[in-house]
Amino acid sequence: MNEPNRRDFLKRAFALWALISAVPVVGMLAQYLTPGKAATTRETVMVGKTDDIPADTPKIFRFNKEPVVVLLNPAGQYKAFSARCTHLGCVVQFQTEGGPHFGCNCHGSQFDMSGKNVAGPAPRPLAPFRVNLDGKSIYLTKV
Ligand code: FES
Repeated sequence: MNEPNRRDFLKRAFALWALISAVPVVGMLAQYLTPGKAATTRETVMVGKTDDIPADTPKIFRFNKEPVVVLLNPAGQYKAFSARCTHLGCVVQFQTEGGPHFGCNCHGSQFDMSGKNVAGPAPRPLAPFRVNLDGKSIYLTKV
């Protein structure tokens, strides 16, 4: 009399376990078959507001996952370029000692305020980004 009940219980427990185990597999399969926006990168990204950037201090924003420097130059134009050093990819920092410039702490490369490489082993300027303003919103596009 007890045997069928125990057997039914075990069948149901196994079916429940199989169902719960299948949920993550089905989810991963669905994600694989229909890649969403999270798997893509966008060509143009709103990174911040003009109020976030003081005239004399560049600021680093995220363009997708890449650090990008945005600054307001003395001519009143917003400029942007990658903050990745063109030597081996360390992130450059804004420095004021010896005049405003971007310095790479990894191997000593220096870039002027237009992103041009001026010292150290960096072989080329920082990669430029196009800046578009929509009101106070700053949009960057990879060039
Ligand atoms: Fe910047 Fe080497 S990574 S100087």
